[in-house]
Amino acid sequence: MKKDGDKDLQPSGYSSSPCSMHSVDPAYMGLERPAEVARPSGETALANLGEALLAGLPDAIVYSDSKGLIRFWNSGAQRIFGYTEAEALDQSLDIIIPERLRARHWEGYERMMETGKSRHAADKLLAVPALNKSGDKLSIQFTVAPVTGRDGVLEGIVAVLRDVTETFEEIRRLRGAQS
Ligand code: HEM
Repeated sequence: MKKDGDKDLQPSGYSSSPCSMHSVDPAYMGLERPAEVARPSGETALANLGEALLAGLPDAIVYSDSKGLIRFWNSGAQRIFGYTEAEALDQSLDIIIPERLRARHWEGYERMMETGKSRHAADKLLAVPALNKSGDKLSIQFTVAPVTGRDGVLEGIVAVLRDVTETFEEIRRLRGAQS
């Protein structure tokens, strides 16, 4: 898919508009495809990578602002937690956090908004029970990262969350079978 920014990737003086009399771009006729012109497809794929990561993966990706209000909710989040994007946007993260964990969550959230840093090692997954729209308990593993605006000021936090309910239940079942 062509993106608006692609034109900026063309070598200077090169026109990307197709010749009206030919089905191929005149710049390529009888010439090797110039090396620089090969760049846009790679750059475009890279630009699309962001979209694929956000929209195409089964994990939930949730971004919330400095106040903890949900500002981005992908299809994985809808699948895992049951709320549509329209239902989740502008809501507090509380909609997926069991009441007894909210104080700990907001304490950690506010600390990270102040310091820009996680209290945990970079490779540490947080494992918590969460709630879906029907009120069922899920087992979730997640990681968080601070998100800054253009001026470098911290604007919110993004989380990637995975539903590990089945894995956890299987582990519990196996442990039960051993004892
Ligand atoms: C799925 C439901 C969630 C539950 C049950 C939950 C619960 C918790 C708990 C218990 C903590 C304290 C962990 C600790 O310090 O040991 C925590 C920390 C935190 N949570 Fe949540 N949370 C949830 C979702 C989210 C989401 C979606 C975000 C961000 C968009 C988020 C952002 C944070 C942050 C930034 C911390 C501090 C982490 C750190 O210092 O490394 N949480 N949460």
